[in-house]
Amino acid sequence: MPRPHIEFIQTQMLTWEKSKTNSLALIKNLSSDKISGASTNIIRYPKNFEFNNTHFLECDEEFFILSGKISINDHTYVKGDYAFFPVGHPREKIKCEQQTDILTYYEGNNKPVFSKKIPKIETSQLIIKLETQKEDWGKATDPKIAALGVKRLGLRSDPISGETTWLLNISPNMMDSEYDKKELHPVVEEVFVLSGEMHLPMGVLKKGAYFWRPPNISHGPVGTKKGAVGIFRSKGGPLTTEWSKKTYPVKWNADYTPVLPKSLISKLNINYDKKHPY
Ligand SMILES: [Fe+2]
Repeated sequence: MPRPHIEFIQTQMLTWEKSKTNSLALIKNLSSDKISGASTNIIRYPKNFEFNNTHFLECDEEFFILSGKISINDHTYVKGDYAFFPVGHPREKIKCEQQTDILTYYEGNNKPVFSKKIPKIETSQLIIKLETQKEDWGKATDPKIAALGVKRLGLRSDPISGETTWLLNISPNMMDSEYDKKELHPVVEEVFVLSGEMHLPMGVLKKGAYFWRPPNISHGPVGTKKGAVGIFRSKGGPLTTEWSKKTYPVKWNADYTPVLPKSLISKLNINYDKKHPY
């Protein structure tokens, strides 16, 4: 079964659970595909965490550092750093000097395989480290968004599936119209808000907000006065946008009325239907 529609949660509403793969780490599972094992998570490693058993995963892993500092093999990652490790990429040593939170995407079951015999990996896919805070951001690819001045930094695009990961930066007052168009994508749109806020008809997404929206669901209009930065992924192909012909009023400060699967509602640690949970 594909992942259910989740739109949206503030990830602060989820409690930390013990990681099944490493007893010292904590995890918040944001969404998962019960059949493929693919999942999106925030993983928290404690200060002085160290792990020196060489292992690899039998699935692709993509990650973005939310806070802290972690070394993997001979590379140090800090807030804003991004990486893509394809199936079989070895992790020889991992060390954290401080508590570190990592937004982590697995494309299958993430059970570690402990073996010095490392399989042949698809090195053309490997992204060891991208320091997003130091990169030059370009224009958004969608012409309507680009015309407003929205900035985009592409992180990865799969050469076969076309699935893409990118950062989007909307400056204050760039998208503050009272009326705007709705949008629709033929693929999954997955978003984690890194800063700022975005106003949608089902509430206000703030730092730490997350959604997984299946294909072909009309949504929006989206507005922001404060601006926002988010990490976006398309799953099932590249993201294209079909804009509505009509415009609709932007719902500023809408009540929190999310679309959530029952399994997730039971995990929320607050009364989620409060007007503004965070
Ligand atoms: Fe969208």
